[in-house]
Amino acid sequence: MSEILSPVLAYLPPFEGLLPKWLVFVSAVSALNSLQAYSSADYTSKLYTNGSVACEPLSGRLFGTWTFLSAVIRMTAAYNITNPVAYDLAIWTYAIALTHFVGELVFGNASLKGRFISPLIVASSSVAWMLTQREAYLG
Ligand SMILES: *[C@@H]1O[C@H](CO)[C@@H](O)[C@H](O)[C@H]1NC(C)=O
Ligand SMILES: *[C@@H]1O[C@H](CO)[C@@H](O)[C@H](O)[C@H]1NC(C)=O
Ligand SMILES: *[C@@H]1O[C@H](CO)[C@@H](O)[C@H](O)[C@H]1NC(C)=O
Repeated sequence: MSEILSPVLAYLPPFEGLLPKWLVFVSAVSALNSLQAYSSADYTSKLYTNGSVACEPLSGRLFGTWTFLSAVIRMTAAYNITNPVAYDLAIWTYAIALTHFVGELVFGNASLKGRFISPLIVASSSVAWMLTQREAYLG
């Protein structure tokens, strides 16, 4: 098992703890979501409201663009976790996403059910995790 895994593990960030690996994972998922958002506005509509509020193609592509930018910043932070600039930018990607998601719940263009639960949990837990670990990685 370890012979199979070690070439993969060699590409993971060479840092202690799960946070850098989590950032790689979320970054990869974000990049994939970005492609899905570009390929169909329906994907974004399903993500935000389980399809009950239609999503404009432009909004879907903007969501994909923002998400890809987040993925790039998170990947950079994962491999540069001791760099305060990268670290804080990664926190901002989650904080801005969380603000946007909660805002859309308020505006009614997102609903607190189905797929929308996971980005909410990922954004809020990552902000909390990164803020509490900041001293440990940068101190
Ligand atoms: C991490 O930062 C270094 C420069 O300090 C840069 O060369 C490298 O590309 C960065 N890693 C990633 C994954 O962006
Ligand atoms: C979506 O948000 C806009 C405000 O930005 C609001 O006018 C509209 O009613 C919302 N759509 C739904 C279905 O709640
Ligand atoms: C989402 O929409 C599908 C199809 O419209 C429906 O079957 C499903 O129950 C909905 N899921 C939630 C969580 O509302």
